Amino acid sequence: MTEYHCHILPRMDDGAKDLNMSLDMVRLMMAQGIDRIIATPHFYAHREDGVRAFLERRQDAFRQIADTGMTMPYLYLGAEVAVEQGLSRLPGVHLLALADTPYILLELPYAPFAHWMMEEIDGLSQRYGLVPVLAHVHRYASFYTRAQMSEVLQADAVFQFNNEAFRNLSERRLAMSLIRKGCPYVLGSDAHNMTSRRPDWDLLKRKVGQEILDRQENLFQSAKNP
Ligand SMILES: [Fe+2]
Repeated sequence: MTEYHCHILPRMDDGAKDLNMSLDMVRLMMAQGIDRIIATPHFYAHREDGVRAFLERRQDAFRQIADTGMTMPYLYLGAEVAVEQGLSRLPGVHLLALADTPYILLELPYAPFAHWMMEEIDGLSQRYGLVPVLAHVHRYASFYTRAQMSEVLQADAVFQFNNEAFRNLSERRLAMSLIRKGCPYVLGSDAHNMTSRRPDWDLLKRKVGQEILDRQENLFQSAKNP
């Protein structure tokens, strides 16, 4: 099983706050059957000193885990990139793609829908050939109108569902309807820590059949290890 969305890198964002927490999160994921992890720390363009500086920080955080010599699942690097105005013109933005694949995990703002959001996503596709993976898309039904949500769901994108979506009736309904329609999707815990937002793949296994886990897209055909 592949974990497509989590915040396990130490001191990168509001996720794992130190190396011990990172390792505990990885161990728990392994115990729950995960054998491939893509680490996706938050990237907010307005807070960073550019993409290169972020990538250096990310590499340092990854190195801390690698240096422990811990036996771990295949660990890959990506980012959860916040959709902001101007993102598609940010120098080096394509380097934030998941493990050198053409896929980029994008987090829409928790704000009323605006057309510039989809224009930025289109810009990433047109300029760089990137394929958007819309992070926890089930969450936005409570921020957007039905028509706006339907515009988002018509995007040429892969949809990412958090495990907890399958615990909530309306979010689960949305996720299952997209899955039944044959929309491409991937799953992730979006884990941030070992308490309130801990990895919970067991929840997903309890709530949906193995088939839902097995049918998620494999985005890793061209992936590279860090
Ligand atoms: Fe996240």
